[in-house]
Amino acid sequence: MDVIAPIADMRQWSRQALIAGKRTAFVPTMGALHRGHISLVEKARTLADRVVVSIYVNPTQFDNPEDLAKYPQTLEADLAMCREAGVDAVWTPQTAEMYPDGYCSFIDVVGPLTDKLCAVARPGHFRGVCTVVAKLLGVVRPDVAVFGQKDLQQCLVVSRMVGDLNIGTEIIVAPTVRESDGLAMSSRNRRLSPDQRARALGLPRGLELARQAYRAGQVTSLKLIEIVAEELLVHEGVDLDYCDVVSLKGFKESEFADDACVLAAAVFVDGVRLIDHVPLAGQSIPVKAD
Ligand code: PAJ
Repeated sequence: MDVIAPIADMRQWSRQALIAGKRTAFVPTMGALHRGHISLVEKARTLADRVVVSIYVNPTQFDNPEDLAKYPQTLEADLAMCREAGVDAVWTPQTAEMYPDGYCSFIDVVGPLTDKLCAVARPGHFRGVCTVVAKLLGVVRPDVAVFGQKDLQQCLVVSRMVGDLNIGTEIIVAPTVRESDGLAMSSRNRRLSPDQRARALGLPRGLELARQAYRAGQVTSLKLIEIVAEELLVHEGVDLDYCDVVSLKGFKESEFADDACVLAAAVFVDGVRLIDHVPLAGQSIPVKAD
């Protein structure tokens, strides 16, 4: 496995793959890798001859400096996981090269994809995500890139940007990988103590209860949101950041839910921010009974 830092070296690696007639799949990450990330690598391996993973904690997508400072960094373990998963190259770009002094170009996706949920809760977040993803794609120039459905809004925003800017990379979305008790895997889970982790379970549990209520006939979005809020707020130190029913048709908030809708939520567990969502028509997510 090649481990590459300079942009010029990554560019050269990609150029060589292209000359050799190899298809490249790309998995961008911020490191602190877990099985969710590795599932994207596994998907990527089915789609191309070569797999590139980037590990870069992108400062421009953090609206909160404390969140950035506390973001877990586990490079050696990440490299071992990538090696074991059969990754061909790991790219670890450096901020001095990504955002040198005088840097002033950013990408903004506007409209319904970025006027709700995480876009409102984290101003500037998707601007940072789109900017870095466009830069990463511009260097790696993959045929295909794999993103996780866990970050649903990110998938939609990035797909839109890649289409609008004619970047030419195919965007593939892979399912959310969860712990056996239902908690969506996330690099931020490492910041949770056992007690905080137990409280964080209210998030998938609340979403699943609301999904079941929808299946049983409850279509009023406010009622579904209340179910999530009730499940979460029984715990001290758990704050609901947002919870919304959004239709994937047009990505609009819906007063009444239907099968095209997802219920999406973000919470803070003692300051650690976690997001999750459930497609109302979709598969149940495994949530252990009490
Ligand atoms: P990061 O949070 O490291 O996630 C990297 C990729 O892994 C994203 O596509 C994310 O959706 C996916 N992922 C995270 N948890 C997952 C899970 N439990 N199951 C399946 N996939 C999961 O998302 C980012 O980094 C950044 O915003 C990035 C796109 C790298 C740009 O900086």
